[in-house]
Amino acid sequence: MPKLGVNIDHIATLRQARREKIPSPARAAREAQAGGADGITIHLREDRRHIQDHDLLEIRRACGLPLNLEMALDPGIIQIALRFKPDKVCFVPERRREVTTEGGLDLKRFENQFPAVIQKFKKQKVEVSLFIDPVVRQIQIAANAGAHAIEIHTGTYARAKGPGRRAEIDRIRKAALLAHRLGLKVHAGHGLDYANVPALLGIPEIKELNIGFSIIARAVFTGLRQAVNEMKRLLTSGLR
Ligand code: PXP
Repeated sequence: MPKLGVNIDHIATLRQARREKIPSPARAAREAQAGGADGITIHLREDRRHIQDHDLLEIRRACGLPLNLEMALDPGIIQIALRFKPDKVCFVPERRREVTTEGGLDLKRFENQFPAVIQKFKKQKVEVSLFIDPVVRQIQIAANAGAHAIEIHTGTYARAKGPGRRAEIDRIRKAALLAHRLGLKVHAGHGLDYANVPALLGIPEIKELNIGFSIIARAVFTGLRQAVNEMKRLLTSGLR
């Protein structure tokens, strides 16, 4: 059974829409823990569009789950991460104008940079994973660079339909097997939801799934009725 890392960036997105203190990502982390999450994932983006620097400490204080920090290969963010020492970091590509992470890293472009950066995190006992597409060359480079893990980008699978979807599952299965044989831990994530996640459970090498958007989107409707009801009760109880 893979572990569930819950990505709570979207709680911070909602908070930043009003620059308020609520909803609190730290509280979301506690709720995720109460719901059975095995880890919390957050992405400290260069443009700070959702998670803010202070969230790191607040989330760590709020819940005892392993914290996985997604980040770009950016010197400023790397410095913050090395100082903060999350349990894990996951390097992802980042473009300012993208709505969300759009695909895996092209490790060929960073082949010379990753080994040294990974070593720095290894010295701090921080596990490093690289977010890549299920492509043989990328997996080989990740292994050569000394990464502990890869996270397979499942966005293409999540968008595929019919036979295309079966082909994507096959691609992910083969990639997971190769990575496992090369000594890498295998994680997967992006675009996973309640309908498309079961097919991944047949791939035993995948030990961790990182899921955000679908869980937070569902939480709106598992919680909205009660939230409205609480306000309505307040209104009908009249002046006190
Ligand atoms: N894994 C990685 C590396 C990601 O960048 C993201 C999105 O931030 C996720 C998992 C979660 O994706 P989603 O929000 O689509 O579930």
